[in-house]
Amino acid sequence: MSQFMEVVKSRRSANKFLEGIQIPREDFESIFKDLSLAPSAFNLQHANYYVVEDRAKMDEVFEDAFKQYKIKTASAVIIVTGDKLAYQSADKIYEGSRMLGILDQVEYNMMIEMINNLYESWGDTFRHDEAIRNASLSAMLFMLLAKEKGWDTCPMIYFDKDKISKTLNLPENEVPSLMITIGKMDQKSDRIRGYRKPMAEFVRFV
Ligand SMILES: Cc1cc2nc3c(=O)[nH]c(=O)nc-3n(C[C@H](O)[C@H](O)[C@H](O)COP(=O)(O)O)c2cc1C
Repeated sequence: MSQFMEVVKSRRSANKFLEGIQIPREDFESIFKDLSLAPSAFNLQHANYYVVEDRAKMDEVFEDAFKQYKIKTASAVIIVTGDKLAYQSADKIYEGSRMLGILDQVEYNMMIEMINNLYESWGDTFRHDEAIRNASLSAMLFMLLAKEKGWDTCPMIYFDKDKISKTLNLPENEVPSLMITIGKMDQKSDRIRGYRKPMAEFVRFV
């Protein structure tokens, strides 16, 4: 089996973690460095990560996530947000391409204008969807990269997003998209993998 498939097949949502384990900062740095390769619409890189390791802060997050016990056992809890205003940084993101001559000035201007028009005219629902969509894609890659480094995760959506925004002092434009607990899974808490639909039930070749 390829190393990639090993990672895909061994990733499980941890039910409980082994307590008292700290994740070396180098592991986080390596994961986040590779994570920057995740795709995003117009390469706008909407996702932001808030890594909470401080126990007192984690306790606040635990309260905001309806006391889901695994947070108490995790090495860290991460809140992935999506930026509804990521498009406003398009000029900075495309500046490099302009300087390298990949885009000439006219193409650069057209690109920035097109991105701005799209995100402004399609409205807040689109900006919100984009925040969730791009942050979610990034979060999936984060979980696979973490697994590849030997860390287990659990994606979580059962939290009060207003309370989390307040706890982390998130700016108005950032939507908390997903919470990810991370650590070493307590193997004793391992459950059999949940039922998966057969391909015919979720794939249509149209
Ligand atoms: C968007 C999303 C939200 C989830 N929210 C929670 C959650 O709040 N709490 C939890 O314990 N698990 C949560 N899970 C984990 C799922 O229950 C888990 O992925 C699913 O049962 C499949 O199991 P597996 O990941 O081990 O293959 C969530 C998963 C996803 C993708």
